[in-house]
Amino acid sequence: MRNPAMPPAMAEAGLSPLEAFGARIEAGARQGDAPNARLVAAMLSVTGHMQAVLDELRPDLDELRALVGFLTEVGYFTDSRRQEWVLLADALGLSAAIEDINAPRPQGATPNTPAGPFYRADAPDVPLGGSLCLDGKGESLRVTGQVRALAGTPLAGARVEVWHANDQGLYENQEPDQQPEFNLRGKLAADPQGRFAFHTIRPAGYALPGDGPVAMLLTRLGLSLDRPAHLHFRVSAPGYQTLTTQIFDRADPAIGRDAVFGVKPELLAEFRAHPSKDGARTHSLDLNLVLCPLDKRDSGPVGGA
Ligand code: BEZ
Ligand code: FE
Repeated sequence: MRNPAMPPAMAEAGLSPLEAFGARIEAGARQGDAPNARLVAAMLSVTGHMQAVLDELRPDLDELRALVGFLTEVGYFTDSRRQEWVLLADALGLSAAIEDINAPRPQGATPNTPAGPFYRADAPDVPLGGSLCLDGKGESLRVTGQVRALAGTPLAGARVEVWHANDQGLYENQEPDQQPEFNLRGKLAADPQGRFAFHTIRPAGYALPGDGPVAMLLTRLGLSLDRPAHLHFRVSAPGYQTLTTQIFDRADPAIGRDAVFGVKPELLAEFRAHPSKDGARTHSLDLNLVLCPLDKRDSGPVGGA
């Protein structure tokens, strides 16, 4: 710990550059030069842990260049249509871990998962029983469900936003020239019993974008890029915490290796196949989405999704 009365060069004698950096941050904070206490705490923690990594791995300059090169590539792959930084946070498990810290859900409540990069707030309203599918491609899926409070009360009029990939595993905003705008997304208002229903198509699972540095990192580590098939939901109701989640097809072979750690037991559902007269397969899915009250008073376990 630096003595503030000493000249900086002497005070830092014997410290590693990272320790010296930490000492300067502390000195700045003591003198009131750094008004953001949270930033100071974060930087001190990060520098302390970086020092521990250096002590353990003793990296050489080529390894430092490789790290800087990787981060540079992540930046190059990021633009208004693609967020490789968010993908990195997702693939490291950081997004899911921070979601868990900030939205812990009691037993019986549907767990939160990260929204992912394909959410659009401007999706159109869809009437109850309406269809999200604008191009007629894919095997039909009828989704029914109920939005309830943790205590079991149906949430009349809850807003249910849905978005998902098509039968090739692609979202409409990934291929705006090939899918109609807003294909496979929409907003519904639940009925007085909190129930909702819509028609759509059965989504395929997909792999994270394979051409960028994040995919290269996962591949070099021998890790999966796969995401099992899922529907995204964002559900909101006055007085309740907004739920952002995904419902996964439990039969998808990639269910145990989701590249972004979204799968949780409560989010597995059966996409039931039904025979149909014309030979085309149809599917159905029924789910409960259980919201937590904002003030946490409305508690008591009921069944999850
Ligand atoms: C998604 O579910 O849409 C998603 C989430 C994280 C990374 C990539 C895609
Ligand atoms: Fe997704």
